[in-house]
Amino acid sequence: MKKYRVAVVGAGAVGVEMIRVLKNRKFPLEELRVLARTERPLVVDGQTYHVRPTTPEAFDGIDVGLFAGTEGDKGAAVTFGKEAIARGAVVIDNGADYRMDPTVPLVVPEVNGDALKNHKGIIANPNCTTAVLLMGLAPLHRAFGVKRAVVSTYQAVSGAGGKAIDALKDQSRKVLAGEPITDLGGFPNPIAFNVLANNWKIEERGYSNEEWKVVNETHKMLDPRIQLSVTTVRVPVAVGHGESVWIETEKPISAESARAVLAKAPGVRVVDEASPLDGVTCPMPILAAGREDTLIGRIRGDLFSDRALAFWVVGDNLWKGAALNAVQIAETLIANGWLKRTP
Ligand SMILES: NC(=O)c1ccc[n+]([C@@H]2O[C@H](COP(=O)([O-])OP(=O)(O)OC[C@H]3O[C@@H](n4cnc5c(N)ncnc54)[C@H](OP(=O)(O)O)[C@@H]3O)[C@@H](O)[C@H]2O)c1
Repeated sequence: MKKYRVAVVGAGAVGVEMIRVLKNRKFPLEELRVLARTERPLVVDGQTYHVRPTTPEAFDGIDVGLFAGTEGDKGAAVTFGKEAIARGAVVIDNGADYRMDPTVPLVVPEVNGDALKNHKGIIANPNCTTAVLLMGLAPLHRAFGVKRAVVSTYQAVSGAGGKAIDALKDQSRKVLAGEPITDLGGFPNPIAFNVLANNWKIEERGYSNEEWKVVNETHKMLDPRIQLSVTTVRVPVAVGHGESVWIETEKPISAESARAVLAKAPGVRVVDEASPLDGVTCPMPILAAGREDTLIGRIRGDLFSDRALAFWVVGDNLWKGAALNAVQIAETLIANGWLKRTP
């Protein structure tokens, strides 16, 4: 079997999970290079990796660059993405820098894997919230035609990077000890024992940048006609984004018909009274964390319409929302012979 040289760029919350996912899925690795800003040893599941500084030369000979560095002008993808491509690598980026570029495929393999066919060297992973949502929304859209979706999120702190988990722990300890919270850890208000609907920058028409990402990315990946109303909320959970979703459909829909579609959807696991997981009958972040499947439950027909349905979806934001999805993109490229880019 052919083996590949992979660079993981970024050794934070997502980068560490990329190393873990590559190993768990037995990705055919010839070599794994871990790159970040600072050189250091990094221990993942008892194995020590040598994190090297990211330079253009660090991409020499690399087949796939899995980028999990910070976003923006000084971030890894903008600084080194084109260098990596020029040196022959295909770049799969987790950040927001290239997601809406019309020349860049934005992909969840179970949703629109075919979009990878004509990539030009760089492929984008959607925002973690969009990825988890689309695992439920896409199969239901194909079966029933989703016209409108109302989404409220319950997002884990790790979505804000590795240091945010430490901030939640530190703030929680302080609250329990009766001490004042002195370090907000990058959040606008305390996150321990609290819920923040104001965690993101407010942009056009009063919607946050996170809410706009879900709308724009769903339109690019699934269907620009779907009318979305999104409220994103940060909750004091370490890993695992939950999303309450209500959809209005073109065709009649019921809990039974939706359940039958979701039960067959790849990468989805229905969790309810009929299909408990580890003895649990409702998707929860602690059940989803470290699992490949996105969990869906609380599926129920609308009380007032036979063309509307509510469900609850939970996925690991660091896995399906980032690391796992990126590795699945690489696997799809390899399986279809698409690793070589089209000119
Ligand atoms: N967390 C999530 O749930 C999630 C989900 C989807 C997408 N994403 C996206 O994935 C990316 C990584 O997120 P994260 O949560 O893992 O962040 P993080 O924990 O803050 O880690 C960021 C990593 O990027 C490295 N880095 C930053 N700038 C770099 C540069 N110019 N060159 C090379 N390395 C650089 C840092 O290096 P040092 O360690 O040396 O400082 C660090 O290891 C972000 O774009 C984020 O938006 C995150």
